[in-house]
Amino acid sequence: MELEGRTVIVTGAGSGIGRALAREFGRNSARVVCCARRKARLDETVKLIEEEGGVGVAIPTDITDHIQVKQMVEEVLDRFGSIDVVFNNAGSFQSIAGVHEVDPDVWWQDVTVNLYGPLLILREVLPHMMSRNEGIIINMNGGRPVGGTGYACGKAGLMELTRILAEELKMQDSAVMVFSAGPGLVRTEMTELQATTEAGRRWIPSTKDSFDSGKTRAPEEVAVATIKMIQVARPESSGKSYGPATDFTDF
Ligand SMILES: NC(=O)c1ccc[n+]([C@@H]2O[C@H](COP(=O)([O-])OP(=O)(O)OC[C@H]3O[C@@H](n4cnc5c(N)ncnc54)[C@H](OP(=O)(O)O)[C@@H]3O)[C@@H](O)[C@H]2O)c1
Repeated sequence: MELEGRTVIVTGAGSGIGRALAREFGRNSARVVCCARRKARLDETVKLIEEEGGVGVAIPTDITDHIQVKQMVEEVLDRFGSIDVVFNNAGSFQSIAGVHEVDPDVWWQDVTVNLYGPLLILREVLPHMMSRNEGIIINMNGGRPVGGTGYACGKAGLMELTRILAEELKMQDSAVMVFSAGPGLVRTEMTELQATTEAGRRWIPSTKDSFDSGKTRAPEEVAVATIKMIQVARPESSGKSYGPATDFTDF
């Protein structure tokens, strides 16, 4: 898919990988809808997109709130008329603890943001994409570290959702495609929490070790790989995973 003039929704666009994705979509002449809860952060992303000559709009949305998601999608359709790409990038990794000591509410919030939020967005966007028989959805994968079971269970569920959705779309002869992205370790607010807190250093010491040895990826690498993937994506490839190291020859 060529991105010029297309409408792209990026969740979690106020920081980290989401901001880099939103900027890269802007540089590729897409109209970028930036969603997350913190409006000030989204406004900063939109400003960066506009400074680079792109078109961006901030729509503050809690992706775990069905009404807010519905309103966001309606607003995008009213404004731009179509939704061509959705990147379910928003994620939460707040619960860093062993299962025996975990705070169940924080744990459930991680599951909810990583799994239920993308489901709500899919539920609102898919009927539109399926009726046009066109569209690309990307769901953000994540690691499954010990001490991070809320995050891991949410991401594992999201990957199953991605796999089965790809099969459902193929079964219905739909040209709508769904992919999962695996970014590798990127230094962001999420991973800083693992490197700088006692719980993070105890349960996920590899994050700080990687920071210390400089073994991390830049968020821009994920963004650049995403644009490449979208340009070459074919319905036969739907359901596949990709990342910055992917060779897209057979994609
Ligand atoms: N960094 C890595 O090494 C790494 C590795 C593998 C996968 N990932 C995945 O990459 C994605 C981006 O993470 P990141 O590393 O860039 O961390 P980040 O900077 O903490 O980004 C997470 C984003 O999610 C948004 N968010 C959280 N809860 C939300 C909610 N209820 N509704 C809407 N937005 C919400 C946050 O914005 P608000 O707080 O303003 O809502 C924030 O912009 C996540 O899915 C993460 O699991 C990251």
